Amino acid sequence: MDSSSSLARRAGTRDDPYGQMREARKQPLLLHSMTVFREIFEVVFAHREIRSVVEVGVESGQVSGMYLDLGATAVYCVDPGATARLRATLAENPALHLVTTPSPEVLPELPVADLYVLDGDHNYAVVERELSWILENAPGAVVVMHDLMWPCARRDLYYEPSPLAPADKHESSADGPTAWHDELTPAGFVGAGAFTVARHAGGERNGVATAVEDVLGRKGNELWRFELVPAVFGMGVLYRATPDADERLADALRPYSNSNLLATMENNRVALYTRVLQMQYEAAAQAGHADQLADTVSAQRREIDQLKAELHRAWEALRKR
Ligand SMILES: C[S@@+](CC[C@H](N)C(=O)[O-])C[C@H]1O[C@@H](n2cnc3c(N)ncnc32)[C@H](O)[C@@H]1O
Repeated sequence: MDSSSSLARRAGTRDDPYGQMREARKQPLLLHSMTVFREIFEVVFAHREIRSVVEVGVESGQVSGMYLDLGATAVYCVDPGATARLRATLAENPALHLVTTPSPEVLPELPVADLYVLDGDHNYAVVERELSWILENAPGAVVVMHDLMWPCARRDLYYEPSPLAPADKHESSADGPTAWHDELTPAGFVGAGAFTVARHAGGERNGVATAVEDVLGRKGNELWRFELVPAVFGMGVLYRATPDADERLADALRPYSNSNLLATMENNRVALYTRVLQMQYEAAAQAGHADQLADTVSAQRREIDQLKAELHRAWEALRKR
């Protein structure tokens, strides 16, 4: 594609100046699905022979079919919270296998895969066990992980109701984090019943990034390499180095993993999004106050009407005397 047609593709043309904003309107307000990483998956598939995939955390199923497009022949779609919509989506393709036992417990029950995609319960206990099992039992696999940056990097998130033992959980809160201060707030990134988050961030055994560091730091795991793509909550790619082949994979990932531009845009994205959340919260609170005020005014109006009626009756009684 020459540079002028790429300009037209991204920015619209003088005859159709709205093309870019039509694309913008198609996106949800908060990008969170791994579908946005398609070009990174293309790089991974181009450098490794990937036939089988274990996808942990599927949600809508919109990513599952992408692995088949890229060359996989079987995808094990693990999600204990599978909705009717997800079941219907996966039922359309016999190469997509729904698995409802949670990870990490389910991993030993599935065929060893060429690619593991970890995007399920984003906390230290689960991710540490998932990675420990994969690095020991699937040394030839590539592991792609999501949510390695804010908010889950250094703070556990627990899908609720959480199956974790109390010892595996930090004290949690329904309030959420925000880019604008360090404390949790009801006006932050909240789970609204779907998940809670650890009350404090940082420290030991807290967050997805901490789990990755601990597992990679263990004796015997020195040959595993890790690259972070600093966009859309952070995507990690983990693979065991073998001479030449993986140097090429590292080279191909480098424009993404070295990109300060992506990291800056991600910081700006979460700052803007959490500002929107705060404004929505304040607008809802204002609407609540306005409702309360309207209730008070109508109660006072009823009281005044009653008093007027009593006054009228008293006046009539006086007149008749
Ligand atoms: C962030 S969503 C996944 C999004 C999906 N990967 C995408 O990119 O579109 C997380 C999903 O993980 C599921 N989940 C929660 N705990 C899990 C577990 N222990 N094992 C597997 N999936 C889990 C939830 O039900 C939820 O659907």
